[in-house]
Amino acid sequence: MEPAAAPICRDPIIGRPKTTVVVPSTGGGPLFQVLPPGLGNVHLDPLRHVFAQDASISAIVEGDVHSALGAMPSHSVRTCITSPPYWSLRDYGIPGQIGLEDSVYTYIDSLVAAFEEVRRVLAEDGTLWLNIGDSYTSGGRTWRAPDKKNPIRAMDVRPATPEGLKPKDLIGVPWRLALALQSAGWYLRSDIIWNKPNCQPESVKDRPTRSHEYLFLFSKSEHYCYNDQAVRGPNGRRLRSVWDLNTQAYKGAHFATFPPSLVEPCVLTGTHPGDLILDPFFGSGTTGVVALKNARRFVGVELNPDYIDIARNRLSAMAVVSD
Ligand SMILES: C[S@@+](CC[C@H](N)C(=O)[O-])C[C@H]1O[C@@H](n2cnc3c(N)ncnc32)[C@H](O)[C@@H]1O
Repeated sequence: MEPAAAPICRDPIIGRPKTTVVVPSTGGGPLFQVLPPGLGNVHLDPLRHVFAQDASISAIVEGDVHSALGAMPSHSVRTCITSPPYWSLRDYGIPGQIGLEDSVYTYIDSLVAAFEEVRRVLAEDGTLWLNIGDSYTSGGRTWRAPDKKNPIRAMDVRPATPEGLKPKDLIGVPWRLALALQSAGWYLRSDIIWNKPNCQPESVKDRPTRSHEYLFLFSKSEHYCYNDQAVRGPNGRRLRSVWDLNTQAYKGAHFATFPPSLVEPCVLTGTHPGDLILDPFFGSGTTGVVALKNARRFVGVELNPDYIDIARNRLSAMAVVSD
């Protein structure tokens, strides 16, 4: 069944239409239900179906991460698996987006505030799996070489060198963010290196080509849900902290998506079947795909309605295949 056109309301924070709630059914019934948005702000009513004790459905919420999370009940999701926009790397083409701040410190403050809401929404034994990449200061250039894979959305300007850094410095965004989250109260449990054997070649000649990103595991409490039996490496050995995984673009998306193989170990170790998984930067919906594939549910938040269409089509195709 095709979703009906959703009613529109305005986001008071960023002044654009928002808060359409799309609910893909995981069982029988209609493939998608489009629930009416709240009036003037993200409203809990349309989300009640997702957060109910005996819920069997998942949802995509269109809106800004801060206001959407603010509408979610405390202690309602088991884990959060997400990849926020990286600082100053890509223009997602929508007002209110995170990542275009003039200062890296403002960017980190904005993410810490968003993840503070994530912490509230997590169960006491909940975890956060955070994928984040790094970047360099401009080295004096005010322009950026075009991104051959994503020419439309690559940023063509570079912000000024952050205070305290020099031209050509590696900014260290992942660790700055990780330490800021630790200071905010999160338990920092692991820094996982996502090694990308098929990384993008770089033209630089005075340092090694960058071929990794970070995936941090945080927990809300000292003791938390982590099923170490769920994922085993060769010879039954425990999961290690360097993961070799090829990047894998989702063909419908013209922006950075993380590969399902990065998300799957997080889902399997961090949740039980039927649990609700949050991705507050949902993009093309990779977290939702892996959640459904493993009999979990998801709630995804995404600002850009075009990306919601991509995620909806992707999840819809998947549901059709598995029915
Ligand atoms: C790195 S992408 C996530 C990609 C996703 N992991 C996937 O596999 O498709 C970051 C996403 O955050 C979204 N975003 C940016 N600012 C946002 C905000 N303020 N609230 C919610 N989403 C936002 C962007 O539109 C983009 O889709």
